[in-house]
Amino acid sequence: MEFNWKFSQTATRMSSSIIREILKLLDDKDVISLAGGIPDPELLPLEEITEATRRVLKEDGVQSLQYSTTEGYLPLREFLAERLNKQGIIADASNIIITSGSQQGLDLLGKLFINPGDVVITEHPTYLGIIQSFTTYGATFCSLPIDDQGLQVGLLEEALRKNNPALIYTLPNFQNPAGVTLPLGRRRKLAELAIQHRVPILEDDPYGELRYYGEPLPAIKSLSCAENTILLGTISKTIAPGHRLGWVVAHEKVIKKLVLAKQAVDLHSNTFSQRVIYEYCRQGHLDQHLKLLRRKYGEKRDAMLMAVKKYFPPEIEWTKPEGGLFLWVTLPEGISSSKLLKESIKRGVAFVPGSAFFTDGSGENTLRLSFSNASPEELELGIKRLAEVFKYQLVAAFD
Ligand SMILES: Cc1ncc(COP(=O)(O)O)c(C=O)c1O
Repeated sequence: MEFNWKFSQTATRMSSSIIREILKLLDDKDVISLAGGIPDPELLPLEEITEATRRVLKEDGVQSLQYSTTEGYLPLREFLAERLNKQGIIADASNIIITSGSQQGLDLLGKLFINPGDVVITEHPTYLGIIQSFTTYGATFCSLPIDDQGLQVGLLEEALRKNNPALIYTLPNFQNPAGVTLPLGRRRKLAELAIQHRVPILEDDPYGELRYYGEPLPAIKSLSCAENTILLGTISKTIAPGHRLGWVVAHEKVIKKLVLAKQAVDLHSNTFSQRVIYEYCRQGHLDQHLKLLRRKYGEKRDAMLMAVKKYFPPEIEWTKPEGGLFLWVTLPEGISSSKLLKESIKRGVAFVPGSAFFTDGSGENTLRLSFSNASPEELELGIKRLAEVFKYQLVAAFD
């Protein structure tokens, strides 16, 4: 007789991520993947990380293999604090905790701030990892639409008044999935409203360093009216996601709670990885590497935008990101991107259907394209294949 597993209410709220499911299907080398936002393997700094690893083992010895503090490796936190200071963010090491990727930071913050039934304000669409994580804590979502300048902050005041939310979650730079960026005026307004209504902002910024055009904008956390803002960062898109290192920058009171929450989960992030990444940064590699990434990903972004312009039929719209890894595509109403995915994979190209990024499962006629992981030539071919699928579907739908 099969055992009857009685999972908790929390476990029953868990759901799988469509991206992980799609990535599993993509071992086929003939399929060009425009799906996952994963770094180009050729742009992972293998040599420098090898060298940093050797140095850590030689110079730090057994210390690098030992348990360490929950807050994270102090020199790494000091390094991050100095970088943040240069961006106008007032923080020292006591305001920073190192997490196992920023996903862990988000999840722990969900644990700290969300009671079952609480409302979280998000962008519509938003990062699906947050939908997955916060749903587990019993959050309900008040999702506000975005336009080509990110969150429509004009709608925020009413949403705050009506919902009394526990959190506002926002991605101001090169948003995942839509690639859009929040201008300074909206950042200020968002910060002011959040303070007035006493709601913490989670400012998730994995892509901010990957700007290819235009001038960097100040982080919400750096604005004088944003003391309630919690900033999350990661090395996943800039150095190496396999090391699983991210950080949370917050008021000391929040950091203290995060330390307790993290202790219960994994005691601390990987000691060895923290020292290797610190050594990599200490050797001055990071800024050099960022220059390379901006050039290479900028070329890929241009290649994708050029191909989209060349091949997509005029009924289709798309965003023009200044940075990050993603383009967001809107098909005419009534066309379902999830239905087109199977046909696209058959033709040798994959994407993520947009509905995965909507808290209410809407957005059927949208999809996300990533330009990070294919070469400019593959990007052109992938977009050409996709355009054929779209054109065929448009003829079928409107004939
Ligand atoms: C918006 C956003 N937040 C958080 C994460 C998680 O990143 P990490 O690898 O640091 O856990 C991702 C990863 O794609 C992301 O796009």
